[in-house]
Amino acid sequence: MSVEPYDAVDVIRAKRDGGAVSEPALRWMVDAYTRGYVSDAQMASFAMAVFQRGMQRDEIRVLTDAMISTGERMSFASLGKKTVDKHSTGGVGDKITLPLAPLVAVFGVAVPQLSGRGLGHTGGTLDKLESIPGWRAALSNDEMFAQMQSDVGAVICAAGSGLAPADKKLYALRDVTGTVEAIPLIASSIMSKKIAEGTDALVLDVKFGSGAFMQDIDRARELARTMVALGTDSGVATTALLTDMNVPLGFAIGNANEVRESVEVLAGGGPADVRELTVALAREMLALAGQPDADVEAALDDGRAMDSWKAMIRAQDGDPDAELPTARETHVITAPADGIVSRMDALPFGIAAWRLGAGRARAEDPVIFEAGIDLHAKPGDRVAAGQPLFTLSAADEARFPRALEALEGSWAIGDGAPEQGPIVRERITA
Ligand code: URA
Repeated sequence: MSVEPYDAVDVIRAKRDGGAVSEPALRWMVDAYTRGYVSDAQMASFAMAVFQRGMQRDEIRVLTDAMISTGERMSFASLGKKTVDKHSTGGVGDKITLPLAPLVAVFGVAVPQLSGRGLGHTGGTLDKLESIPGWRAALSNDEMFAQMQSDVGAVICAAGSGLAPADKKLYALRDVTGTVEAIPLIASSIMSKKIAEGTDALVLDVKFGSGAFMQDIDRARELARTMVALGTDSGVATTALLTDMNVPLGFAIGNANEVRESVEVLAGGGPADVRELTVALAREMLALAGQPDADVEAALDDGRAMDSWKAMIRAQDGDPDAELPTARETHVITAPADGIVSRMDALPFGIAAWRLGAGRARAEDPVIFEAGIDLHAKPGDRVAAGQPLFTLSAADEARFPRALEALEGSWAIGDGAPEQGPIVRERITA
């Protein structure tokens, strides 16, 4: 039997007392936890110590690398194309991956978009796409590679369990021990998977505001800087945009309705904020791929992005022209008075959509594709008394009361237009 070189309790104490953990001890801790030698109780205690005491940049780099080492590393080096990925820290109505991946692929760049499912109030890209009849999220590495090499270029699929398995275990533990919101843990969790995926370049959409992980722009900036440094140190060209998530993105929150809205953007229309963010992220991704002058707006307007979307959906057995599910039950909220929509908090809208069935409370729950919320007005819009403001959709009327409860006090109608800044607030580079 081999002898373990460290005691978990010493590593926990070092961090608890505010010290830095040495590189070999930290690597051992991650590996021993993944093997099951370090217990959940010990790792939870360590995660809480990191939450309280933070980590130095070098420790975060070692932690990330240690998590990568617990699994496989993909490589797209033989593809003969540049690869660029995007990661969003998650928000309400955030469907940007859907139009973005095929739009970027128009320019001959491969997009390896490994995505997840929703948990809690933030939606998951795979759940949205699965509302398209036939579409398949699970691809083998060979299928993913072949799709990227073909003219399709873009792939959105489920991340296999082989990438950074330590993160999978640690993230589930953090979720139930109040240790999710620690910047070193979030940054290492996200970047371990992205670096292991083998992309040449990465653009991070780091959100701040009521519907985001980080409510506060200063914390979002710190998270963005930490992740950009991790990517850059690992040879992945990485930049980040800090984007506003105080108000839901677009007019659709759910799954099937978010696909419909994404298709509108791919057809050259769609809500202004969804198009603005899609264009900003596409420009950023293409700049990292060596095409800073690519005319992404033209590709949305002249049908190339739509053709690319249809090819991507068909390549994964989906029917891009099929009818999407629509809800049996709807409930409309109308304006109580004439005025201007002065406030709409993203988080309660995300929670309400989740309670309607668009999201899941446990990883094994199904989502209801047609459930969600359609907004008919956004902050700054003038409305008349009795005008529909929001339509709630569900498979079952019994879902409405708790969703309505979540929305209480989350929006308002006033006399003046609220102050609204641009969606993209800052760009963070190495
Ligand atoms: N997403 C992740 O993958 N990890 C985190 O820690 C937070 C968000």
